[in-house]
Amino acid sequence: MSTHDIEPVAAIVVAAGSGSRLGADVPKALVAIGGVPLVVLAADALLTGGASRVVVVAPAAQRDDFLRLFAGRDEVRVVVGGAQRQDSVRQGLEAIGDARFVLVHDAARPFVPARVVRRVVEALAAGARSVVPVVPVVDSVRAITDFGSAVIDRSTLRAVQTPQGFDAELLRRAHAHVAEQGLAVTDDASACEALGEATVLVEGSRESLKITEPFDLVVAESLAAARQTDSGPAGDGRADA
Ligand code: C5P
Repeated sequence: MSTHDIEPVAAIVVAAGSGSRLGADVPKALVAIGGVPLVVLAADALLTGGASRVVVVAPAAQRDDFLRLFAGRDEVRVVVGGAQRQDSVRQGLEAIGDARFVLVHDAARPFVPARVVRRVVEALAAGARSVVPVVPVVDSVRAITDFGSAVIDRSTLRAVQTPQGFDAELLRRAHAHVAEQGLAVTDDASACEALGEATVLVEGSRESLKITEPFDLVVAESLAAARQTDSGPAGDGRADA
């Protein structure tokens, strides 16, 4: 099944965070990698992977900068976000129109390969209502306890990525529910689970790294350079690590 056979998929790119851990003098989503701002890379990755339109959620103070970045692009709409990520997702949901499926993606993951976006969309088309791309955890992991720490069997763990994909009506209900109940959620599948909805996992990719700290920018620059020369690990269709 090609993603073109699937009914239109809207996408939300949340980009309204300050990204203070990155130490840049602009919001993280405006930081450029290989000369292109993270938010533009992220929106284009979703469109390449099968989204038909994108709502970008921007910080209020930088709204005009974001509008300039996407000027003339009818498939991209810019709205202003809120104090917490979940507030920004809610703002995005109000702007997606009547799409049946919605992807929610962090601008902080600009290198998500098209094949991962397609996997999420295809799971939705096959009947899943809440879909999360994940990767195995490569480090050994310990939980801090009252008595010191305890190792956790990493073979049972998965690191969660975006874009997460949803039945749009479910995600609207889930975010209304967490807002009403005053629950804090770090991702959107958790909001759906608070309504009792099961989460379907699909294979993510290590290329879809989350840019958080200055070190991540160094890795991101070399990924961007590898993509430009098409000699590195970032080309679509290659095996995931
Ligand atoms: O803070 P963290 O890196 O987990 O944020 C994940 C994503 O959520 C980022 O792309 C960030 O811009 C976005 N975000 C948002 N609105 C907020 C906080 C974070 O859109 N209030």
